[in-house]
Amino acid sequence: MDRWLKDFADQFRRTKIRNRPYRNAAVSFRRCAQDDFEARARLARAVGLNTFLFPADRIPGCDLLTDSGTTTMTMDQWSQLLLGDESYGSNEGYFAFKNQIVETFGPAWENRDRFVENTFIFHQGRAAEHGMFKVLAGLIDARRAKDRFLIPSNGHFDTTQANIEDNGLEARNLFSPELRRHDLKARFKGDMDVRALRALLDDPAMRRRIPLVYLTITNNTGGGQPVSLSNIRAVRRLTTRHGIPLFLDACRFAENAWFIRHHEPGMAQRTVPEVVRLVFDQVDGFHISLKKDGLANIGGALVVKEKSLFTERFPKFRSLLSDHQILVEGHPTYGGLAGRDLKGIVEGLKTVVREDYLTHRIHQVQRFGARIQELCGNKKVIMSPVGGHAVYLDIDEFFARTRLKDSDLPGIALTGLLLIAGHRLCELGVYAFGHREQGREIPPNPRVNYVRAAVPRLTYEDQDLFALAEVIAGLYRQRDSLPGVTVTHGQDLRLRHFKSRFRFKSERS
Ligand code: F0G
Repeated sequence: MDRWLKDFADQFRRTKIRNRPYRNAAVSFRRCAQDDFEARARLARAVGLNTFLFPADRIPGCDLLTDSGTTTMTMDQWSQLLLGDESYGSNEGYFAFKNQIVETFGPAWENRDRFVENTFIFHQGRAAEHGMFKVLAGLIDARRAKDRFLIPSNGHFDTTQANIEDNGLEARNLFSPELRRHDLKARFKGDMDVRALRALLDDPAMRRRIPLVYLTITNNTGGGQPVSLSNIRAVRRLTTRHGIPLFLDACRFAENAWFIRHHEPGMAQRTVPEVVRLVFDQVDGFHISLKKDGLANIGGALVVKEKSLFTERFPKFRSLLSDHQILVEGHPTYGGLAGRDLKGIVEGLKTVVREDYLTHRIHQVQRFGARIQELCGNKKVIMSPVGGHAVYLDIDEFFARTRLKDSDLPGIALTGLLLIAGHRLCELGVYAFGHREQGREIPPNPRVNYVRAAVPRLTYEDQDLFALAEVIAGLYRQRDSLPGVTVTHGQDLRLRHFKSRFRFKSERS
């Protein structure tokens, strides 16, 4: 390049605000007015402050209830949807999906056995988990075991935990000790506590109770924090030594790989697709909700490595899972999805490992978190560093030294007030993960207490997120005078945060 041109190019490169690596190809206009606070207060009251029950089309701001199934699909995905093959058996999408699994995760995931499937399609992640633990529990006769079987993880998601426990096993979280520390240099707070795992596996009585170990990437229950390749390898070494299979809950595998590539020593020369393969080389199987890093609105899968500790230990698993799939989802070649969905997912899996997409995505979530910290003047008000898909407001810190106690459910109060402001977040803390025992509230152990702002993929612009940051900061300034809430329905129910109703303590019932 000419010298004078190069100077200009250098100057352009230094611009602080970078372009998004995509542009909008379709927009959907809001159907409600931003300032209609009264109408939203009425609606919020009518649904008992339950964010899941609040009508989505009445949210003018950011709907950050989840990053799951809320992705704006690309035009390439939409074009694939139009080319969907809706045959009942062995549609085009099925073959494309199986090929893409090998393409994305590596050759070890190929299905060479012509008679037994290794890739099981489900309509979403939890359906795959349900099949996983129902079949596994049957194989180990979990319900009749004298000592309950145990599935350790760096952090089980709530549906995973529920599926494990529903089948008579125990789900145990071995969070990294770094998770609760406010240390900006700790880049992989999603890691498993390897010492705690070693202590479990070194005890022969405990070891016998562990059929499988899990890692969730990224660690959603643990603040959306990434898991390092070195941690995955350490867990693999330990589990291999004891002949125990290792599985991934791989919902956000691409975001996790981005963190490894950018923050783990020795990984900078690797591409994201390479890192993905290095990670998946370590495990015997995985399940995934394709509503996250499949960039799709629906879909899930469970994939087992044909040559692995898992198939050695549970040789009947795959054929039993096929039976289960046929009973509850459909023929194994479509597994509860339309042929078009499969094609959209295949395209999504190709896009999701793009460096430009991931960099923009993760930087956007980080900018959002930084804005909240800046406007609140308190760096500890969110979990830092920010993870991949969400900003987690630390409710214990947000309401520290105010009169609100756990029994006032400040996290639920905050989400209620934010609904009225026009934004939707969700509580993942003492209410969602706690439970009631003999009339007493038992908080989650280890304690987690967050309100999560999960950012849908390819959907919002910084301006939207910054508007929400401003509202959060306004509430933070008023934290001493915010009302608590009381539960009016459902405190004793299982998975109660989906079903409960509340009211502000300042309001009459
Ligand atoms: N595992 C993890 C780590 C998840 O985050 C989720 C869903 C699932 C499994 C279940 O997948 O929804 O397709 O059945 N997480 C969403 C969330 C719902 O909001 O975090 P699914």
